[in-house]
Amino acid sequence: MSDEFDELNPAPRLLMGPGPINADPRVLRAMSAQLLGQFDPQFRDYMKQVSELYRGVFQTKNRWTLLIDGTARSAIEAALTSLIEEGDRVLVPVFGRFGHLKVEIARRCGADVIPVEVEWGTVFSDEFLEKNIKKHRPKIVAVSHGDTSTTMAQPLQALGKLCRAHDALLYVDATATLGGMDLPTDAWQLDVVSAGLQKCLGGPSGSAPITLNERAEKLISNRKHTEAGLRTPDTIEGEGPIIRSNYFDLAMIMDYWSDKALNHHTEATTMLYAARECARILLKEGLDHAFARHATASKALTEGLKAMGLKLFGDQKHKMANVTGVHIPQGVDGDKVRRALLKDFNIEIGTSFGPLHGRVWRIGTMGYNARADAVLNTLGALDAVLSQENHRIPRGAAVDAALAVYRQG
Ligand SMILES: Cc1ncc(COP(=O)(O)O)c(C=O)c1O
Repeated sequence: MSDEFDELNPAPRLLMGPGPINADPRVLRAMSAQLLGQFDPQFRDYMKQVSELYRGVFQTKNRWTLLIDGTARSAIEAALTSLIEEGDRVLVPVFGRFGHLKVEIARRCGADVIPVEVEWGTVFSDEFLEKNIKKHRPKIVAVSHGDTSTTMAQPLQALGKLCRAHDALLYVDATATLGGMDLPTDAWQLDVVSAGLQKCLGGPSGSAPITLNERAEKLISNRKHTEAGLRTPDTIEGEGPIIRSNYFDLAMIMDYWSDKALNHHTEATTMLYAARECARILLKEGLDHAFARHATASKALTEGLKAMGLKLFGDQKHKMANVTGVHIPQGVDGDKVRRALLKDFNIEIGTSFGPLHGRVWRIGTMGYNARADAVLNTLGALDAVLSQENHRIPRGAAVDAALAVYRQG
């Protein structure tokens, strides 16, 4: 049987889609470290370090800054299932696929969900959000920061304050932007923020950092119901309704991450090593430097695409700094181009979902791949493949334009 399959040997792809991207080799090395038991004092120290490191990444003082074991949506589910009680009103501003995901998760939690939508490729004004918060009086507002499906980033500077003024809790899905775009949790008064490793943090998917403040903690702790097998005579139970998921019960997960170290799941040790290394690398680089690196890679890519004669997708004032949408030119088969990039150049770029499918490619420049060589190689390869497809472009102009951005820097 073992002879039937070759040794695992993935092709050396350059992953320039909307995520996952190539993991930083240092993260992969951290992941090859030997396992520790989850109650080993050394491992508990690593957990504390992870909390401390992610306080830096999220720009927060929140005590409860930890990891959910699972892909980015596991932290979305943990946040929403732990916050939402049956019948709670939840306002979800939808500006792409991942807004719809939050609508769907909130509905599964039994919420009275009010989705508000804008056209894909645009974002909401503060006035529109304020009007809807006043009109619907939600208990929770759940919004994406960057939605990779449309490549747009929702401005969030004013929303936290607005939510507080109207007594709503704000949850932000920063899966696609954490580490690549500024998102100061405390300064912007964001109550709960979560992410994944596989975008700007430069790791594999499978661990989801989350931070929550005291407003969220109060609500969640009031719903704490400890598993029967772990309860002791001095266990204090919350008065609120039980959280409907065991795996995503943030009250129990907080107990597990606290000094009580109350058993919950078996820690995904290797993913914790990965998450720790992602944050360590990012903070060593410096957040401001990382944000600038992403902005420069995005500028180089977009200047290159424009020089090639391609049209960018969406409202460029609100484009994410780490993913770019570009219209597939008329007469060009988008999937054929993607196949050629993969086969001849080992480069992956993204297709699109829903209304944008077949109309827009998405190119990521994030995390470990927000680098000049990755941008230049992608543009050079696209230049060659489009020419092979008989799409007339000024050959070489894209790489020159991107190089000019880097030379200015
Ligand atoms: C904004 C946003 N939220 C959630 C997700 C889902 O993440 P995952 O696939 O890691 O569960 C993604 C993935 O692209 C995303 O971009």
